[in-house]
Amino acid sequence: MPAPSSQPFCASSIIGTGSYMPEKILTNDDLSKIVDTSDEWITSRTGIKERRIAAAEQATSDLAAEAARKAMESAGVSPEEIQLIIVATVTPDMFFPSTACFVQKKIGASNAVCFDVSAACSGFLYALQVARHFINTGNRTTALVIGAEKLSSLINWKDRNTCVLFGDGAGAVVIRRADEETEAPGRVLSTVMGTDGTLADVLKVPGGGSACPITPENVDSHPNTIHMEGRETFKHAVTRMLEASQQALEMAGLSASDVALVIPHQANARIISAIAERLNLPLERVFMNLDKYGNTSAATIPVALDEANKAGRLKKGDVVLLVAFGGGFTWASSVVRW
Ligand SMILES: CC(C)(COP(=O)(O)OP(=O)(O)OC[C@H]1O[C@@H](n2cnc3c(N)ncnc32)[C@H](O)[C@@H]1OP(=O)(O)O)[C@@H](O)C(=O)NCCC(=O)NCCS
Repeated sequence: MPAPSSQPFCASSIIGTGSYMPEKILTNDDLSKIVDTSDEWITSRTGIKERRIAAAEQATSDLAAEAARKAMESAGVSPEEIQLIIVATVTPDMFFPSTACFVQKKIGASNAVCFDVSAACSGFLYALQVARHFINTGNRTTALVIGAEKLSSLINWKDRNTCVLFGDGAGAVVIRRADEETEAPGRVLSTVMGTDGTLADVLKVPGGGSACPITPENVDSHPNTIHMEGRETFKHAVTRMLEASQQALEMAGLSASDVALVIPHQANARIISAIAERLNLPLERVFMNLDKYGNTSAATIPVALDEANKAGRLKKGDVVLLVAFGGGFTWASSVVRW
């Protein structure tokens, strides 16, 4: 793995968090009526018990806008103060305009520059790093970074290998430039990112783009849904998330024993346990909510961060380790001093 390219040369702080999960709950028992599966199989293999499904009329930008409003409220900033909106998503409202443009319109952030980032389940941490560069170079002072997905729109409900794993939701943070000298809470100390495009075919939505447009001939084979080699993905997820965590901690001058809470990507409880074990961290120091939501791709980390924040699990000064892995393959990790 190449050496991380960025250094913690400046101060961007997470000053507010928010999340929005759709109301409709789809349980494992509900799924067992649609495909040949069971609560026992899904729970024991993944840790997932239920997931949220957005309403037909809700687009990803609707979920994102709700999470953004809550993050702005928690940060105490007005929409006009937001100078940058980045939405991490693989389920954009449409090919263009970007989902971030729709969010801007919905929340009235008229002074923001807006675009999307596509890095699958690592998308939120990629977007956080992009926003951090804007802030740390003095280009912008206040940004909304959002992870939002309507993955139910990419699911083949006849494929038990994938339909049990995913759900919908959105999480957001407001980040702001902090004075280098002050110990602002929520400060992002380090971020590492990695990509291995040689494994792009292991986890993908093959159709619907320019490589394979949907046609009357191919529509019945569901090319516009998630295709995944589960075991291969599992193996790389553990290795890369572990490596990225260790690198981000090292870059911040810390070690795993300093970590008060790990907020990992929520894809599979067994992946999360394997990483915790290799970092020698007890599961009490690892945040998990995938039992309620399943894998919401780019939304998992900001949703979990918001839930941990609201639950009082983040104390001032705590070292928080964020780590993600997703299609691409992509991976990323950030260390935050709360
Ligand atoms: C998908 C995953 C849960 C499957 O678990 P697994 O233990 O690897 O299971 P396998 O793929 O080996 O499948 C085992 C068997 O269960 C079956 N199976 C798959 N899905 C099933 C389901 N929902 N219900 C019941 N049986 C199922 C398979 O058909 C297979 O049957 P076979 O042995 O007769 O062929 C696991 O591989 C995983 O979590 N992978 C990583 C996913 C991930 O992280 N994705 C996102 C990355 S961002």
